[in-house]
Amino acid sequence: MKAITLIVKQVMKASLVVCFMLFVSQVSFAQAKPKGSPWPAPASAINMKNPVKSDPVSIKDGKQLYIKNCKSCHGESGKGDGTKAGNLDIACGDFTLPAFAKSTDGELYWKITEGRKPMPTFNKKLTDAERWSVVNYIRTLNK
Ligand code: HEC
Repeated sequence: MKAITLIVKQVMKASLVVCFMLFVSQVSFAQAKPKGSPWPAPASAINMKNPVKSDPVSIKDGKQLYIKNCKSCHGESGKGDGTKAGNLDIACGDFTLPAFAKSTDGELYWKITEGRKPMPTFNKKLTDAERWSVVNYIRTLNK
C-alpha cells in the first residue's frame, strides 16, 4: 500500500514538472513568433491626415476601444503580448519600438481599417472617428 502511494506521489511530481516545462515553452514561443511578411500601406493611406485631434477626450475613447478590441492580442502596453497572442502564427508587432513611431497616423488607420489575417478588419466594427482615436491612443504607448 505504501509503495503505491509513493508511486502515485512520484507520478504526480513528474506531471507537475512536465506541466511547468510546457508552460515555460509556451511563454517563450509567444515571444519568438515569426514576423508577418512586409505589410506596406498604399501611399494614399500613408499621406492621410488624421482628422481627430489627439486631445485627452480622443485618447480616452481610444484607450477604451483598444482595451475592448485590441488588447487581447496586442497586450495592455502594446508589446504584442496579449492573452491571444500565443495562439497566433505570427507576431502582433510591438507598438513601443522606435521603428513603430515612424509609421504615419494614416498608415496605422489603414491597417486597423483593413486588417490582415489573423488581425480582423475594423471598418465595420469601429467608426472612422473611433479608428482615428485608437490611432491617437496607440501613439501614447510609444513614449
Ligand atoms: C486576433 C488578434 C488581433 C487583434 C484583435 C488585433 N490585432 Fe492588430 N495585429 C495582429 C497581428 C497578428 C498583426 C501583424 C499582422 C501582420 O504582420 O500581417 C497586427 C498588426 C497590427 C498593426 C500593424 C503593426 C505594424 O507594426 O505595422 C496595427 C497598427 C494594429 N495591428 C493595430 C490593431 C488595433 C488598433 C486593434 C484593435 C482595434 C487590433 N490591432 C486588433 C493581431 C491582432
